[in-house]
Amino acid sequence: MNFLLSEEQLMIQKAARDFAQNDLKPGVIERDSKKIHPTEQLNQMGEMGFMGMLVKSEYGGSGMDTLSYVLAMEELSKIDNSCSVAMSVQNSLVCSGIQKYASEELKKKYLPLLASGQHIGAFLLSEPEAGSDATSQRTTAVDMGDHYIINGTKNWITNGKYAKTYIVIAQTNPEKMHKGINAIIVDADSEGVTTGELEDKLGIRSSDTCSVMFQDVKVPKSHRIGEDGFGFKFAMSVLDGGRIGIAAQALGIAGGAYELAEAYSQEREAFGKPIMKHQAIAFKLAEMATQIEAAKLMVYRAAWLKDQGMAYGQAAAMAKLYASDIAQTVTNEAIQVHGGYGYVKEYHVERLMRDAKITQIYEGTSEIQKMVISRTISKGGLYIPVDA
Ligand code: CAA
Repeated sequence: MNFLLSEEQLMIQKAARDFAQNDLKPGVIERDSKKIHPTEQLNQMGEMGFMGMLVKSEYGGSGMDTLSYVLAMEELSKIDNSCSVAMSVQNSLVCSGIQKYASEELKKKYLPLLASGQHIGAFLLSEPEAGSDATSQRTTAVDMGDHYIINGTKNWITNGKYAKTYIVIAQTNPEKMHKGINAIIVDADSEGVTTGELEDKLGIRSSDTCSVMFQDVKVPKSHRIGEDGFGFKFAMSVLDGGRIGIAAQALGIAGGAYELAEAYSQEREAFGKPIMKHQAIAFKLAEMATQIEAAKLMVYRAAWLKDQGMAYGQAAAMAKLYASDIAQTVTNEAIQVHGGYGYVKEYHVERLMRDAKITQIYEGTSEIQKMVISRTISKGGLYIPVDA
C-alpha cells in the first residue's frame, strides 16, 4: 500500500488550500449571514479548473483523477461549503454524468461550458413526494416523438437558481416503474421553467437551494442521456460518485474545525498555561484527530477504487456515512474547545457545525447509506455497478 500523494496531487492540494484561504475566507461570514450567492467565487473556481476537474481535456476539463478532486474538495470545504457543494454537484453529478453516459453531441455541447464554469449545473432528482424514495418520480417527460414535454416540481435543488444546465430525472413510462424513468438535459432558460424562493437554511446558507417548476417544457429527444428508461440507473450511478464528493466535503469540514481548535488551544491560556496543555483539551484534540484520520482513509480509498475502475458504491456510502458523522462530532467539539468564542460567528467554527449537518442528509441520508451498505453486504460484500 502506498499512502503518499503524487507531486501533482500535492500541488492541487496546495493550490486549493491557498485559494480557500486567500479568496474564499474573506467575506465568507457575511455571505453566510446574508445568503449572498458566491457568484464571483464560483467564477474564479471555474477559471482555476475546479469546476471540471474530472472532465477530460478534450472536453475542456482539467482531466484529473478522483483523488485530486477529493483533495481540492477537502481544502475548499474547510472554508466555504456553499462553494464546495456547488463544486461537488458540478463535478460529480453533472459533468461526470454527462461525460460517462451522454451522447458525443451532448458532451461537445455542454461539457466545455460546464468545465470552464461558464455554466453552473444542477441535478434535479428530489421531489416533494420523492426524496429518499427516489423511484417515486411524479415529474413527467411525455414522449412526443422528436421531443419530450416535461411537467412537475423538483425540490431542494442545489444550484437551482443560478444553474444554466439542468439534468432532470422524470418519468416517461409510469407502468414500467423505475425502468420508465429518463434523465434529460434541460436548459434552465427554456420556456416554462421557473424557480421558487431560496430556502432559508441552517447551513450552506449562500448556496442557492430552491424548487424548480416545469410547465409544458419542450426538450429535444436528443437531450436524453442514455437509452430510454436508463434514467434511474443513471441517477444511482452518478450518486455513487457524488457521495465521494460529499464525504470529502464532510472530511474538509471536520479538518477545518480541527485546525481552528488546535490553533486556538495553543494561543488561549487558562490556569497559567495554554489550554492545549490541559489534558481535558489535549484528549479532545487527540480524539478529533483520530476520527479525521479514519475518515480520510475511507474517503481516499473510495476515490482510489473509483480511479482504478473498481466497484466503489459501497466504499463511497461507507465514507459518506462515517465522514458526515465525525464532521458532526468534531465541529461540536471544536466549539467546546473555543468555549464562548466558539459560539459566535467571528470564530468560524459555529458555521462549520451548521454546515456539517447537511452532509448527513443530501446525496442520500445516513439511513440511505446504511441501506446501500447493507444491501451490498447481503450480496456478498461486493457490488458491481451497472456499467462495470
Ligand atoms: N448503480 C446502478 N444501478 C443501481 C444502483 C447503482 N448504485 N443502485 C441501484 N441500481 C439499480 C438496481 O440494480 C435496480 O435495477 P434493476 O431493477 O434492473 O434490478 C434499480 O436500480 C432499482 O434499485 P433498487 O431496487 O435498489 O431501488 P430502491 O427503490 O430500493 O432504491 C435507493 C434504492 C438506494 C434507496 C435509492 O432510491 C436511493 O439512493 N435513494 C436516495 C436518493 C438520493 O440520494 N437523493 C439525493 C438527491 S440528489 C442531491 O442531494 C444533490 C444535491 O443537491 C447536493
